[in-house]
Amino acid sequence: MARIPDAFIDDLLARTDIVEVVGSRMPLKRQGREYSARCPFHDERSPSFTVSPTKQFYHCFGCGAHGTAISFLMNYDRLEFLDAVEELAKRCGLEVPRDTQQRNQSGESRELYAALEAAEKFFRQQLQGSAKAKAYLERRGVDAENQARFGIGYAPEGFNGLKDALGTDERRLSLLDKTGMLSKSDSGRVYDKFRDRVMFPIHDRRGRVIAFGGRVLEKDDGPKYLNSPETALFHKGRELYGLWQVRQAHSKIPRLVVVEGYMDVVALFQFGVNTAVATLGTATTPDHAELLFRNAADVYFCFDGDKAGRGAAWKALESVLPRMRDGRQAFFLFLPEGEDPDTIVRKEGAAGFDARLAQATPLSEFFYNELSKDVNLAGMEGKARLAERAKPLLANIPDGAFRDLMQQRLTELTGVGQRVAPAPAPQATPSMRGRSGVPAPKRSLVRTAISLLLQKPALAQGLEPPYLFGVLRQPGIELLTELIALARERPGITTGAVLEHFVEREEAVALQKLALNSEPGSDAELAEVFLGAIGQLNDQTKLQRRDELNQKEQREGLSPEEQRERWALIMEIKAIKAG
Ligand code: UTP
Ligand code: MN
Repeated sequence: MARIPDAFIDDLLARTDIVEVVGSRMPLKRQGREYSARCPFHDERSPSFTVSPTKQFYHCFGCGAHGTAISFLMNYDRLEFLDAVEELAKRCGLEVPRDTQQRNQSGESRELYAALEAAEKFFRQQLQGSAKAKAYLERRGVDAENQARFGIGYAPEGFNGLKDALGTDERRLSLLDKTGMLSKSDSGRVYDKFRDRVMFPIHDRRGRVIAFGGRVLEKDDGPKYLNSPETALFHKGRELYGLWQVRQAHSKIPRLVVVEGYMDVVALFQFGVNTAVATLGTATTPDHAELLFRNAADVYFCFDGDKAGRGAAWKALESVLPRMRDGRQAFFLFLPEGEDPDTIVRKEGAAGFDARLAQATPLSEFFYNELSKDVNLAGMEGKARLAERAKPLLANIPDGAFRDLMQQRLTELTGVGQRVAPAPAPQATPSMRGRSGVPAPKRSLVRTAISLLLQKPALAQGLEPPYLFGVLRQPGIELLTELIALARERPGITTGAVLEHFVEREEAVALQKLALNSEPGSDAELAEVFLGAIGQLNDQTKLQRRDELNQKEQREGLSPEEQRERWALIMEIKAIKAG
């Protein structure tokens, strides 16, 4: 998919006021230079959610949620990135650059959606005309309301039902083909992909049909379920069956239950558990995990209790770990042998199913249980093995309290990691809650410069390339150089927009924390501190170069030119020390 140009995003964020965007969705209270509220992304009594008009970002000191107006819409309105961008663009009367608009905007994809919608309608009509398909659904106990809710239909027997009904000319035929509804034999004959199957339409986040799953009526008629192939509109690793229906049923989804089958979702819904979604015959992917958490903070994974089920659960866990930001919770529910959610909810009702959910295993427990299964924790070797297994996995958890707690648990179990300090995360001073009077931890020059630049990107205008300090071997130098270049290239860029540039980078978390600092002082004072830090970095660069030359002289001698350079440096450094 084409990317939206960064410049457009910057422009969009420059014209958007995050206070308005957030304020139109929830009440905000002015507090000094910021606004505050109870965080919409986790449960809390006292407000730790702040919105900064100067920096144009929000941050929750409770759960760590943060971002720009774009990410706010993604999380609050549950929009995808492109939809959030479109929404904001609409607000300020901007047009999203044409060539980068979403696929669904182009003429052809509109036609693809229309073809799938027509197919769904066709299948539903066919269901009404088919005694045996109706009898099948009755036998499975799917009532009329839920047949309608899920748009369940029937693909007729024979090879040309759909093709003849909808593929009435070359163009229509080609559209049907592109939506994955047709198959082609070796001899080139084109025919319906789904035949004599109960059809489950798969909807996207806007309720448009993007694919189908089809179930055989009789046991021995080929694969039990057939899914649409990957198409321009359908990527099964990114879609969840039933999510549209769940979203329709809630203004705020309390939790999501992930099950394996279409029938499970439908039956759960019918019996009152209207929070279930299914992956489409695939393992849970990290994309799924993100989609799940974007819709609900608590996610329950429901699997068979057998070996395959536990294996699938572990795979889901691996996909979920990198998405376990603070405030999110994952649980695992294992069902008795031979049962699935469909059969359980019919036997035990919603109350019974909910009771099982309440007993579900938290991710942390499942994690350590699985990892220590064949490990003797009484011995050193066993402890070492567990630590060795856990570490790379724990490293995937985003920075935050959950990761710390998981780490702590490992230490309890093994004693490993007791005195190893965590990665030196930049310490955010809680300045957005008022300065505490405690002296700020001593920071490196690089960090000071980055922090000031984040607070006030316009400071970069006071610099001219080339930057002497660019070659300094210190952590963060490259990032600093990049930030300066970005801020110079886009005058007027806000803190929030700078952070948006780094959203997908590993530096994002550290930058967000640094961005929370608010150094007091006038513009001129800030500029002085910033340029002072840059000046000191330049001086350090000179020292670094002098040392290099000194070493080289010892080793192999210097060329006349290098001699001169070293001499000039020595003089400059003297001047610095004297001054
Ligand atoms: P199951 O075999 O557990 O079936 O497949 P089920 O969901 O209980 O279906 P019913 O109750 O017999 O109707 C679970 C899921 O795995 C995928 C489907 O998404 C199915 O819902 N699957 C299964 C396939 O994609 N292809 C298959 O052949 C079988
Ligand atoms: Mn089943």
